[in-house]
Amino acid sequence: DKAGHRHFMAKEIAEQPVVLADALARYLPDGADGIALPEGLDFTATDRLVMVACGTAFFACQVAKYWFERIARLPVEIDVASEFRYREPPVPPRTTALFVSQSGETADTLAALRYCAGKADRIVSVVNVPESSIARESDLALPIHAGVEIGVASTKAFTCQLAVLALLALEAARQRGEIDAETLASHLADLRALPGLLNQALNAGDKIERISRDLAEARDILFIGRGAMYPLALEGALKLKEISYIHAEGYASGELKHGPIALVDDHVPVIVMAPRDSLFEKTTSNMQEVMARGGRILLVSDTKGIEAAGDGIWRSIQMPDLPEIFTPILYAIPAQLIAYHTAVAKGTDVDQPRNLAKSVTVE
Ligand code: M6R
Repeated sequence: DKAGHRHFMAKEIAEQPVVLADALARYLPDGADGIALPEGLDFTATDRLVMVACGTAFFACQVAKYWFERIARLPVEIDVASEFRYREPPVPPRTTALFVSQSGETADTLAALRYCAGKADRIVSVVNVPESSIARESDLALPIHAGVEIGVASTKAFTCQLAVLALLALEAARQRGEIDAETLASHLADLRALPGLLNQALNAGDKIERISRDLAEARDILFIGRGAMYPLALEGALKLKEISYIHAEGYASGELKHGPIALVDDHVPVIVMAPRDSLFEKTTSNMQEVMARGGRILLVSDTKGIEAAGDGIWRSIQMPDLPEIFTPILYAIPAQLIAYHTAVAKGTDVDQPRNLAKSVTVE
């Protein structure tokens, strides 16, 4: 049931405020003190986190690495499952291995999990399907409560994965004595405010639809971002290429001049995911480099960021303000909407893109 939407993907994008509020409520029940997680997660006995996944779930891990390292001061290694499993890396004692998978059936992720079994102190998974193989073979499975996701392009699972990973990072910080009660409470309040902000972000849909008609004419599109917005650039590019078939690449903004800027001319739109945060000034100079070469900038930012960027940019998409740390969850919405509307403008099969399966159960 598409609930009145043209595609399952549109429905799944639109329902994120409700779904995310529900997912958060499972882990932050009313009246309870702090984060409700199952027994057995001891981050004081962990020196190192290894996070493994594929595709969009991998980008969720990449965002979470910033959170675990910054908030909980816990070193994190991340890898895509297809590389991790054959790399056969050492798994030292006091390692927690964390696997993220919407379906819980992805062959490479499951194989990576089996590789870690008996080596890591604890196998934890973050899944959407609690009966899945990955959940069953974990010591501890944390459901993301996103509900069934039908569109091949993962949307609501991504934001719910991020929410659960953010809560895990906060819990790790608490257990390890890296966060005071006041800061923790303010981060939790920010998370609780997210569903409302996601609703506001969805209001940019009409504008994004208009911009996407132009984007649909492009042959190549670059996405750039810094810090925790870098994985969002990767996610935006993956989403766009998988459903619109436009060639798209995500780059860390600072890497632009190490190669990809050679591609930039007035035919290559550059989508910049950059809230006005502590890294924004750096991104401004990247935008100037692009504009100096005739490149068209589509800036996704907040009021202050769009103001600061000035007149030279081609288009902007305005997001509500949110403290820096959780902006990746909010900016997932414009990334998804850009891909969706561009694909619709191109007339592709949005829910069932060519050559792709919802669940990749073979290598
Ligand atoms: O079910 P999983 O989360 O393990 O799937 C991982 C990837 O196959 C998946 O995220 C894929 O990249 C999506 N089609 C992205 O939209």
